[in-house]
Amino acid sequence: MGKFGRSTNPEKLQLDAILHYATTRVVPQQNMDEIKVSFDVLKNQTPCNFLVFGLGHDSQMWSSFNSRGNTLFLEEDPKWVETILKDAPFLHADTVKYRTKLSEAEELVEHYHKQPDCSAKKPFLRGNHGCKLALDMLPDEVYNTEWDLIMVDAPRGYFPEAPGRMAAIYSAAVMARNRKGKGVTHVFLHDVDRKVEKIYAELFLCRKYLVKRVGRLWHFEIPPASNVGNNFC
Ligand SMILES: C[S@@+](CC[C@H](N)C(=O)[O-])C[C@H]1O[C@@H](n2cnc3c(N)ncnc32)[C@H](O)[C@@H]1O
Repeated sequence: MGKFGRSTNPEKLQLDAILHYATTRVVPQQNMDEIKVSFDVLKNQTPCNFLVFGLGHDSQMWSSFNSRGNTLFLEEDPKWVETILKDAPFLHADTVKYRTKLSEAEELVEHYHKQPDCSAKKPFLRGNHGCKLALDMLPDEVYNTEWDLIMVDAPRGYFPEAPGRMAAIYSAAVMARNRKGKGVTHVFLHDVDRKVEKIYAELFLCRKYLVKRVGRLWHFEIPPASNVGNNFC
């Protein structure tokens, strides 16, 4: 699990981002309307703790929107980490090894229903080797931080051998549910036009917590478990 660069100067982070986006022709995969959903929440919440699944052409943007806060990227592909950090070494990123494959999405729903370690009653991630949907080997910082916003726009989920977003969605739901502080956790999920994203969102992030749908992005506001029952939804 590698730890990479980190910026300490908020103004420099913003200036670097302006220079980058003013001189690149490569744009992020989310469109303007989708980005604005998270942007509007970030404007109110920053400085905050922002966990982003996936590095990409949007990473400098997210970091600079939260330049005085803590933005951490979790990326599956070490080569892609190198590529992105070559241009932006100040981003704070870690690599994650997923235990799932997109092709297992259906059987992992069964696994969730049968495996007590996956249960919503006392969900946990750190060291949860029994529940295949739990991201059990993340850096301590991820477990020790209460994330105000979680963006799920990775890992890849468009071919059978790809990890799929099942574990990222489940783990985001567990983090939100285990929140001890005030307020809700904002969870943003991209690519909800795909079956797996939709099914897992409905299972763990819940229709009743869905507050906005724009394009292929869904925004959930998830209350801590103390406010809800023993089920995810
Ligand atoms: C759907 S992409 C989204 C990344 C980012 N949110 C964006 O909008 O650019 C999710 C994952 O695909 C991979 N990826 C994205 N762009 C890539 C590229 N140009 N080459 C290789 N891998 C890429 C990375 O592993 C990334 O975490």
